Amino acid sequence: MHKVSIVGAGNVGATCAYQIAAKNLADVTMIDIVDGLPQGKALDMAQCGAIFDFDAKVEGANDLSALAKSDVVVVTSGIARKPGMDRMDLLKTNATILKDVSAAIRKHAPDAIVVVITNPLDVMSYVAYKVTGFPRERVVGMAGVLDAARFRRFLAWELKVSVRDVNAMVLGGHGDQMVPLPRFSTVNGVTVTELIPKDRLDAIVARTRGGGGEIVKLLKTGSAYYAPAGSAVVMVEAILKDTGHMVPACAYLDGEYGYKGIHLGVPVRLGREGVKQIVELKLAPDEKKMLDTSAEAVKKGVEEVVQFL
Ligand code: NAI
Ligand code: 2OP
Repeated sequence: MHKVSIVGAGNVGATCAYQIAAKNLADVTMIDIVDGLPQGKALDMAQCGAIFDFDAKVEGANDLSALAKSDVVVVTSGIARKPGMDRMDLLKTNATILKDVSAAIRKHAPDAIVVVITNPLDVMSYVAYKVTGFPRERVVGMAGVLDAARFRRFLAWELKVSVRDVNAMVLGGHGDQMVPLPRFSTVNGVTVTELIPKDRLDAIVARTRGGGGEIVKLLKTGSAYYAPAGSAVVMVEAILKDTGHMVPACAYLDGEYGYKGIHLGVPVRLGREGVKQIVELKLAPDEKKMLDTSAEAVKKGVEEVVQFL
């Protein structure tokens, strides 16, 4: 059985752990700084094995040495922005957490593939890449699968079709400037630009960009976790089973799409070595311009975060 470790046993981490165990994908270890939290959730999930027929082991720990022998490490540890905290405070706090966790991954799980979820996603993926010192293929961030899932859901509602009929592509950073691409989004092969009038499509693109914020407004005390966790599991499954599944994910760019030295959401093929390939789509000038704007925002974040490394 493979081993997946999940750092941070909060909403996203625990949901991710549960989905991996329930699918019998791997044994799961959750690690969190809160005493008893990962152990209690692990025990609860392990007891679900009897109900839902899975034998995957689920364990909890407070010490990062429990990362040992992980095939994949999913990083969800961090805090959400609190009242009175500015963006820079959040960046500093989560970068400090990511730095410690990444150093521990380097020490205890030197062969693992790292899937980062903590926000701000693109910058935290860069931190994990820099601090682990792993090859770029082995540090990838999760955001595009989630953003594309939201886009697919809204498109399916608009067209009153099954969401399974809809494919969608979203590039760029995981923020307001992400780039949903209608031209690369289809319903059983038919481009959505042929099916949905421009004003409706623009509204769906805007809702996708604000998809995380819409849920925060409703929840008031936290952010989305079911779809984020599921999106990470899609990536973990592709990695463990070496499927080559092509998804948008946050990868370190070294010239692809004209950018260097940042992690950014682009289509990738995932497999046992992590990112098998970065796929370069032929973007129209307006699409490339939007991606440039998004990349510029991520680059600023990277420039800010280096002072905390
Ligand atoms: P949460 O607050 O429920 O869980 C975070 C957990 O991390 C807590 O249990 C906390 O004790 C733990 N933690 C903090 N410092 C730690 C450390 N040094 N070592 C181990 N554990 C530590 O938050 P939630 O909802 O699970 O979100 C987690 C992160 O994921 C946030 O940064 C959130 O913004 C981000 N996120 C990113 C998404 C994406 O698309 N990339 C989607 C959803 C959430
Ligand atoms: C989301 O998109 C908060 O990044 C998180 O739901």
